[in-house]
Amino acid sequence: MKDLTPPRDSLDPIEIASRDEIAATQLARLKWSLRHAWDNVPLYRQRFDAAGVHPDDLNELSDLGRFPFTTKQDLRDAYPFGLFAVPRDRIARLHASSGTTGKPTVVGYTRADLSNWADLVARSMRASGTRPGDIVHIAYGYGLFTGGLGAHYGAERLGCTVVPVSGGMTPRQVTLIRDFRPSTIMVTPSYMLNILDAFRARGLDPRDTALDIGIFGAEPWTEGLRREVEDAFDMHAVDIYGLSEIMGPGVANECVETKDGLHIWEDHFYPEIIDPATGAVLPDGESGELVVTTLTKEGLPMIRYRTRDLTRLHPGTARSMRRMERITGRTDDMIILRGVNIFPTQIEEQVLATPGLAPHYLIELFRAGRMDAMIVHVEALPEAAGAGARHAAGHALERRIKEIIGISAEVQVDGPGGIARSEGKAKRVLDNRPAA
Ligand code: DLL
Repeated sequence: MKDLTPPRDSLDPIEIASRDEIAATQLARLKWSLRHAWDNVPLYRQRFDAAGVHPDDLNELSDLGRFPFTTKQDLRDAYPFGLFAVPRDRIARLHASSGTTGKPTVVGYTRADLSNWADLVARSMRASGTRPGDIVHIAYGYGLFTGGLGAHYGAERLGCTVVPVSGGMTPRQVTLIRDFRPSTIMVTPSYMLNILDAFRARGLDPRDTALDIGIFGAEPWTEGLRREVEDAFDMHAVDIYGLSEIMGPGVANECVETKDGLHIWEDHFYPEIIDPATGAVLPDGESGELVVTTLTKEGLPMIRYRTRDLTRLHPGTARSMRRMERITGRTDDMIILRGVNIFPTQIEEQVLATPGLAPHYLIELFRAGRMDAMIVHVEALPEAAGAGARHAAGHALERRIKEIIGISAEVQVDGPGGIARSEGKAKRVLDNRPAA
């Protein structure tokens, strides 16, 4: 793989500034953001008053811990525009979550917000190794989802040639990757696997493409999957994180030269880690729920937003800004099976480590008598699709899940193509247990 370390003089000075400088920027911006929220959003004023705090009470960054949290439910309750902090006609764009459960959450951006977003996605792409002038294939979905348009304007801001393919029509993705020869693809990791299958189905060698960089996010993925895709395409795979409530893609990104976790762009977002049960702020290095406060957002300032994503914070390496560990799961993704807590990514690690299995899986939960039970559906690689090989792979995975994760699960090995493919965020869990 190529050395794609960006030249130091191409970075924004704040990315490599001293911690004191970063903290000074954060404190000034945090004061502004709290005041902006309190002045313009009735819910924030009520909440701050009820908690007995005022924006003027923030004298140092750690004082933020005295302010109340904001949740997804608050956004739902304020549907559609109730938390916007500027008059509606200053909102230049709306995005929304799919809203499969309950009301969708709607987010709004001023022109300045959109410009900051493009800057931060451009910064994320540069950290990933993409350079001005590169061709960028964007297979995140376009539309109300923030992935496609968020990536698009960032790639334009960096000075790239953008191919706005969106998700779906996988054979065409393969054709365009071969014909236009992009250096960079931006896509969910599960859809990248789908594209990889399509290359192989046509007898094409994925290493013959011009792809050097995959910028993967919007769903959890593992080191095993990184190795799989990096080997298959002979390219770097880096992690991009974000969420619509805070902005969209580009809140944090890995650096291609280190791949040691995602630098949070701390000049625009202030991260905290809390104990999800008590809400107490935890020191850097401890695992818990990521809470984010926006420092520059005009349209929809978010104060102490509970992301439900589980991670921990480490000091900066390739950049001065702190890193978050790859997200292993969400508080609401956690499966509790007979008292053991499991995240789908733990199953993914074991699937990828089992010879003969493709990297696709679906976890089915159901009730057997009084007990919860789990079936892990996987599929055999074409070269291991015979009955004997499938049986052996299934056994091997059952044993790994038992020995490494500590639960008994049944494994069903389908033939190649047996697991439904994703074109965006993959659905990993099918929960057929009766509601409690
Ligand atoms: O998924 C924004 C995005 C688009 C990020 C494209 C990266 C790339 P939402 O649809 O609001 O926004 O979903 C946000 O997705 O809270 C995480 O649970 C999950 N997520 C996003 N990025 C990652 C990642 C976009 N790199 C939710 N690793 C977040 C693990 C991720 N989970």
